[in-house]
Amino acid sequence: MEKKLPPILEIRGLQISFKQYEKGFSQTELEVIRDLDVCVPAGEIVAVVGSSGSGKSLLAHAVLGILPYNASVKGEILYDGEALTEKRVKRLRGDEIVLVPQSTAYLDPLMKTGVQIRKGKKDAASKERLHQIFREYELKQEVEEQYPFELSGGMTRRIMNATALMGHPRLVIADEPTPGLHISVTRRAMEHFRELADMGAGVLLITHDLELAVETADRIAVFYAGSTLEEVPALAFQSCDTLHHPYSRALWNAMPKHGFQPIPGTQPYAREMPQGCPFGPRCPKYTQECSEKIPWRQTGDGRVRCIHAEEAQ
Ligand SMILES: Nc1ncnc2c1ncn2[C@@H]1O[C@H](COP(=O)(O)OP(=O)(O)OP(=O)(O)O)[C@@H](O)[C@H]1O
Ligand SMILES: [Mg+2]
Repeated sequence: MEKKLPPILEIRGLQISFKQYEKGFSQTELEVIRDLDVCVPAGEIVAVVGSSGSGKSLLAHAVLGILPYNASVKGEILYDGEALTEKRVKRLRGDEIVLVPQSTAYLDPLMKTGVQIRKGKKDAASKERLHQIFREYELKQEVEEQYPFELSGGMTRRIMNATALMGHPRLVIADEPTPGLHISVTRRAMEHFRELADMGAGVLLITHDLELAVETADRIAVFYAGSTLEEVPALAFQSCDTLHHPYSRALWNAMPKHGFQPIPGTQPYAREMPQGCPFGPRCPKYTQECSEKIPWRQTGDGRVRCIHAEEAQ
């Protein structure tokens, strides 16, 4: 029998809290990520969707080992089936594991863009690859000689995508790679992610754009207030009936092509996090049991954290 390979990336029960100093010397722990689970198999694109502040970038930074010094992390981050320790991630990042960062501030302001994208490599193959990527991203060759401050926002984003795609990564984490990009360049970037996945990489695509996630990804993980609430094949988002969590359904209903029906209320902030399901206070199905710890339930080819999943309409 063929041995099943471990996923490229598996995150189980991730918790992230920040040490904060209040007035005087009192110190508190602010837990902003409570229970994140994500699995990225080799050869697949997994999209992470969820509203602003749900923990998407922190997840990316936790994997890359670049959280701020006052953060503490619990839970498991496995890369290729083994713990991704600080030492291991330092060795792999920028090469096997790459990040397309959300903030354009991650480019080195004092280094010309071409050198940054080639990561200092000067050989003919790297230069040719750079030219090829520039053509694909509709970037003029002179951009190579420019500094980040000379570029527009959209150009900077294209450069950040190009940087990730220069090598042969096994894990790509793209944190909102498309805002400000023309639709043709967005498509090109998505094709690139698919090519990388076809070559065996795992791609974690973080995006606000649910429609893009549904079009591009194989699977979708739904985040809300620092927890993963549902994980499904992307096809499940074709219809509201194949989604199980009331929040996933709310996201579906809020898509422009489904009439943009928002739900009342807002995502709770870390300090006011309810017990149990974080979506509880906004959920039409809320019952007392929702304030207990909610376990995962299997749903065909997916899983959901909702005790009312079957009846959630
Ligand atoms: N250094 C920090 N100290 C305290 N809280 C933080 C810190 N960094 C992030 N947070 C909080 O953690 C939560 C998750 O932040 P994160 O940046 O991961 O959200 P996000 O899902 O990426 O949002 P967006 O879609 O806007 O990019 C937010 O409530 C944010 O305010
Ligand atoms: Mg973010």
